[in-house]
Amino acid sequence: MTLPNLLLAFATFRQKVQPEWFAHIHSHGHAAARLARSFTAACVKTASKTTLDEIEFGAYMHDIGKYLIPKEILLKPGPLNESEREIMALHPVHGVEILRALPYITPTITHTVLYHHERWDGTGYPEGLAGTAIPLAARTVAMVDVYTSLRARRTYKSLLTRSGACTILRKMAGHELDPSLVHDFLKLVEGKVTMKIAKPHDPDQIVYSSLIRQTLRVVL
Ligand SMILES: [Fe+2]
Ligand SMILES: [Fe+2]
Repeated sequence: MTLPNLLLAFATFRQKVQPEWFAHIHSHGHAAARLARSFTAACVKTASKTTLDEIEFGAYMHDIGKYLIPKEILLKPGPLNESEREIMALHPVHGVEILRALPYITPTITHTVLYHHERWDGTGYPEGLAGTAIPLAARTVAMVDVYTSLRARRTYKSLLTRSGACTILRKMAGHELDPSLVHDFLKLVEGKVTMKIAKPHDPDQIVYSSLIRQTLRVVL
């Protein structure tokens, strides 16, 4: 069984048995993936196609561990209490447990999923890594994760405007988020540099990439 087939089976199963989780995790993963790829392609000139695929894939998958979080916590309309936060904080580790055994899951993808809640100042989880000890792909996904969440309408909040989201990102730079990534990202978002939003599926990709691309369209 190929990876896309395997993940299609997984996604179909999840959509049937956990439709609320699916809606939450899929749309968020999709937005984060497109943005993470586009940002990296625009700002990291040395990034290869394979790296871009890995970042896109990792961004899609970053919250897959939330399938193991109880619905009352994942979709709670309002802030979580202490013990609910502890359960929610397990989702990066759950995500890696889900993905670990699959083929084509590279260290970059695993690290993106595991470390997307680490913070630049070392106060994040699960390991409390700081600064550049956090893999670049994970720092990138942490940033687009915040931005896409701020720009999304959720049950408990309305969406922020682009400039409102940028103001919050600016405040998080150097604390939660990598300041130089935020600097570049804001230039893109505020339109000072052009960013081409990545298109899904290019049939001319090498085999690895096209497998990833097919998977991206069906998973989560
Ligand atoms: Fe997350
Ligand atoms: Fe997320």
